[in-house]
Formats: sequence, structure tokens, C-alpha cells
Amino acid sequence: KFAIFNGEIIERSEAKVDVEDRGYQFGDGVYEVIRVYNGKMFTLKEHLDRFVRSSDSIGITLPYTSEHLTEMLGELIIKNKLHVGIIYMQITRGIAPRNHAFPTGNVVPNLVAYTKELTRPLESLKTGVKTILTEDIRWLRCDIKSLNLLGNILAKQKASEAGCFEAIQHRGNEVTEGSSSNIYIVKNGVLITHESNHFILKGISKDVILQACSQNGIPHEERTFSLEELEQADEVFLSSTTTEVMPIVEMDGNQVSGGAIGPITKKLQELFNQEIE
Ligand code: PDD
Repeated sequence: KFAIFNGEIIERSEAKVDVEDRGYQFGDGVYEVIRVYNGKMFTLKEHLDRFVRSSDSIGITLPYTSEHLTEMLGELIIKNKLHVGIIYMQITRGIAPRNHAFPTGNVVPNLVAYTKELTRPLESLKTGVKTILTEDIRWLRCDIKSLNLLGNILAKQKASEAGCFEAIQHRGNEVTEGSSSNIYIVKNGVLITHESNHFILKGISKDVILQACSQNGIPHEERTFSLEELEQADEVFLSSTTTEVMPIVEMDGNQVSGGAIGPITKKLQELFNQEIE
């Protein structure tokens, strides 16, 4: 298999970075996960826009234009014969002697991208997944898709140890997002999800879902909602690039919507399917 490494497509096994890469030492970089369906990148422009936004917000200048990246990623998919899967792409500030402050002088960012085969989670999309609730202990710029994922990792590990698929995070009484997904509730036919501010990542799947709501007359609100609202919701689901519209059937051992998939969740799954076809 091949990888993009600083502008070139090389053997993945040849792609290596120095121990003083700032991504390795500080998590000083940002990333994207892009879905590939039928050999085509889904919502690529949105992912590249967010990649630029994330980079800009930590002062890393992307060494390539989005057009150039699009070309390289397209070539990578072909070389790796990827049909259904993901592209993982990250950029770090580069290699420099360890010092918290940004390096001065000519430090070039390191950009890496590679592909992974990953089928759609068709079984879970039908049955739904179990979740736990956990306090959101992350920093206050969750809108940046940072390589620093310790808070997210600890939350996911907690879920994993409880035999669950995802951890739903909350800051005090306010539900924010999953460890690697956005969270939605449905109450009396209205879909509610956290507004896209610095407390959550503005998911691309979230945009696709909200747009589908607008176009199909599904009432929706972007606002914070409480733990009580979560517990009393008619339907709960999560979304991400890898999991699509994923029903939640259990939270902390308590059944959601009688353990079945609710009608709005189902409708949004259908609309999402139409988008990716
Ligand atoms: N994670 N919130 C967080 C914290 C995430 O890590 C992700 C995605 C999302 C959903 O964003 P999107 O719909 O653009 O995938 C929300 C990716 C898939 C990951 O880290 O693997």
C-alpha cells in the first residue's frame, strides 16, 4: 500500500518521521478522516475546508492548495485500489528541537495521508449501539480537529471497558458530543443537537444530516440540551464519517426508545443513504 508523504506518493512502509516531530511530541497538528464510497471521496470539499480551518487556527500553513490535495488524494485511492474505506490525513508543525513555543526559522510541516479499507457498519446501523455517559474533560477548542485526543481516548476507553460502542460526553448538565461523534436527540418530532461552537467538532456528517432535515421538513434545533432531555428523549443517535446515522439503543444500561430504532432516526438513515449513493 501507498501513502502521501510530504507531497509524494511512496510506499507506506517508507513513510517515517523523526522523534522530534512536534506531532509526536506535543500532538501539535490536526487531522481529517474522509469516507470513500465506491472509490469516491464523500463530502471531500467540506473535509478539506475544515482541514484548512483547523490548520489556520493553530498557525500551521498548509503547504498545498485544496486543489492539489484533491488531486493527490484521488491518485492515492487509485494506487491503493480503495473501494470502500477511509482516508486518514494529518499535518504537524514539523520537526524541531523540543520547545513548547513554535519553532522559529525554516520548519516545514509534515503531511501524511494513507487509506484503510473499512466497510459500512451495516449490522450496527440496523440494531443500534450501546453507550455510556461521561464528564467531558477536554479543552475548550474542541472545534479544532486536533491530534491531541487524550480526553476523547479516555472517554472511548471507558465505553469500551463497559462493553459499549461510544461515550456520550457532558459538561456538567450540558450534553456536548461523543468521543468521536456528534450526538442528537429527538423529542416530540423535533431533532436537537448541540450548536457548532468551540465545545464540539462541527461534524461534516452533522451538516449532511441537518441539510437533509431542512430539505425534508424535519424540524430541528441547534442548541445545547441537558442530561434530563437526553434521558427523556424519544430517540437518540450519533453521527460520524465512519458510523453515519447510528442509532443509540442504550445509555448507562437504560434502554432508549424501547431498544428499537425511532422513526426519525430511520428516516435520516434513508436520507443519508441517498446522499452517498
Ligand atoms: N471523528 N466529534 C468528534 C470529537 C469527532 O472525532 C468526530 C469524527 C465527529 C464527527 O465528525 P465527522 O462527521 O466530520 O466525521 C464529531 C473521526 C471520524 C475520527 O476521529 O476518527
